Amino acid sequence: MSTVLLFLLSCWLFLNGRFAFVNAGDGIVTLTPSQGLQIDECTLQNAEGVINLKPIGNAEASPRWKDHTAYNTTFDPGLYSYDPCYAFNQGACKNSLVCRSDENHGNDISIGKQGTGKFFYDNDASTYIVQYTAGEGENQMTTNVLLQCATMVQDTLEIIGDLSNNVYFMTLTSRCCCPGLCPPEIGPGNDSGLSFGSIVCIMFVCITFSYFILGMVYMKAARGASGAEIVPHLSFWMDLPNLIMDGVTYVFTCGKSTISTPEGPGTGPKSTYESI
Ligand SMILES: *[C@@H]1O[C@H](CO)[C@@H](O)[C@H](O)[C@H]1NC(C)=O
Repeated sequence: MSTVLLFLLSCWLFLNGRFAFVNAGDGIVTLTPSQGLQIDECTLQNAEGVINLKPIGNAEASPRWKDHTAYNTTFDPGLYSYDPCYAFNQGACKNSLVCRSDENHGNDISIGKQGTGKFFYDNDASTYIVQYTAGEGENQMTTNVLLQCATMVQDTLEIIGDLSNNVYFMTLTSRCCCPGLCPPEIGPGNDSGLSFGSIVCIMFVCITFSYFILGMVYMKAARGASGAEIVPHLSFWMDLPNLIMDGVTYVFTCGKSTISTPEGPGTGPKSTYESI
């Protein structure tokens, strides 16, 4: 019983958790359902289509953008490497999507680890942001990549740099930042998102469980039922296998055979079918 309640609770939490709304500060907010649903670290589904950054990543060992300078090197002399989808290693940066090193290529620091990428929405700029983190506590690094949709041929990365303590900003401009322009490939390894079918399936299981649990509670509390009688609509469920068998027999014999049904409760399905 408690297992079932736990299951129902997790169903509810699961469906609700996907639509949580949290303010992360600075006008950057967690996605609302109308803004979209994150599929993985580099894919987002919204009403207009899928924003898919996979095609602009570099599946090889090196990052798509390597050692890029900030637009003002006096303000920020660092060199930045970034790949929106495939992790890379660079010196002390391990399994990272974003890495910063000083101008002498020493002292590499990860400013975005693989697996931390999360889509946000910037209300002030009206753009999507992918946010990455690395490290913990005082040493935590945060990188915000603004996704700028543009149908130009070349993908560009502009480094804005370290705007406040260990919070880095950059702007990625690409047609893949536009919903629907870089459709995800269909095939194995692309199934991490929940399809419409699986959501329907989860809801069906939830509703079925609720029906039996609430029904049993009702039968016990209101009708004082005990034993097998607490199952709601018991006679219907007992009769269901016979009804299905008869249905199958009827279809396969085109209604010509004499249906031999063991005497079930209530009216026999045989007479019902013959009268049709
Ligand atoms: C670059 O940054 C430095 C230091 O913050 C600043 O003095 C300078 O005006 C900036 N240059 C430009 C072109 O913004």
